[in-house]
Amino acid sequence: MRIADFALERYFARWEFSARYLLCASDVQGYPMADLLALADDESRALWADLRLGYTESTGHPLLRREIASLYDTVEPDEILTFAGAEEAIFCLVNALVGPGDHVVATWPGYQSLYEIARAAGADVTLHDLREDAAWAIDLERLRGQVTPATRLIVVNAPHNPTGMLPDRATFDGLVSIADEAGAYLLVDEVYRGLESDPADRLPAGADASDRGISVGVMSKSFAMAGLRIGWLASHDRALLARVAAFKDYTTICSSAPSELLAIMALRRRDIVLERSRRIVLGNLEHLDGFFARWADAFTWVRPRGGSIGYPRLTVPGVGIDAWAAQLVEAEGVLLLPGSQFGDPGDHFRIGYGREDLPAGLARLEAFAERTLH
Ligand SMILES: Cc1ncc(COP(=O)(O)O)c(C=O)c1O
Repeated sequence: MRIADFALERYFARWEFSARYLLCASDVQGYPMADLLALADDESRALWADLRLGYTESTGHPLLRREIASLYDTVEPDEILTFAGAEEAIFCLVNALVGPGDHVVATWPGYQSLYEIARAAGADVTLHDLREDAAWAIDLERLRGQVTPATRLIVVNAPHNPTGMLPDRATFDGLVSIADEAGAYLLVDEVYRGLESDPADRLPAGADASDRGISVGVMSKSFAMAGLRIGWLASHDRALLARVAAFKDYTTICSSAPSELLAIMALRRRDIVLERSRRIVLGNLEHLDGFFARWADAFTWVRPRGGSIGYPRLTVPGVGIDAWAAQLVEAEGVLLLPGSQFGDPGDHFRIGYGREDLPAGLARLEAFAERTLH
């Protein structure tokens, strides 16, 4: 298989562990291991104490699948498959689902895996552009026109990376109908679910919404545990999950034994875990609102409706985001992610607000802006 470089990952490979302030990270500040162990209930603490480091069940620890299933309204534990992160879940699913002759529609800009893997598998991919002047909203009529008789898969990500877009309920229902009418699967990447800026905007999960809906989830984002590398698929289509499970035999085979137990502990206390993430994210969002209000003549700001990232644009004439971001990280150790890493040539950049040091990083950025943008 030949696949294009994952531009964002190459960029992070250069900067992630050297820049002082990752003001573009999409995950929430990693949960302290000691705090997680302190949350453990008796059963999971005993499993942890007795853990043997052998292979684990390929579909996922039964108790983990049970906890994950309970995140959904209608999904059974047997309708969950676990993976090494959402990344592997997407990789296996798309490879099992599409190939030459199949057509895929995916929103763009976006997390590169959500369209690149389909391309590498030989499918024909149509990108559904999200536009800033429409507040990044999905345009249902345009999307309907992009669907063809060969469309096998429609891919959306909500809340969305990098824009923070979250469809309203009517748009989400419209997506489900378009996929159902086309006889296509609807892959909903929900890794930021739970981080809606207003909890009332939370959407049904893709797997609950339709028999053709497939939810992708992960411990990395809303649950603040990217280091566990535990992700999953949820779907009522057990035959599809069986095909994906067979594909996974060629990737990781099974999940990390310690990670599975830690994920069980976390999901059992998800109220506490999610409350912490929401506190960090919503507090930081207020800082960003203040910054972008002060700098309205230099940046656009479509306030994210969910997630932990937004996608503003630098509007100062003669200043390009790639060069400005490069100077910023050299001068202040503050890392932004220019839109070029999404293949987006405009002057947008991703800003992430899941890290606890955001106020300090933002102060550095503001000092740099004072020196360079006035
Ligand atoms: C939308 C989206 N999906 C999937 C992933 C992959 O998550 P993980 O790296 O935890 O596998 C990411 C990570 O940034 C993401 O933003």
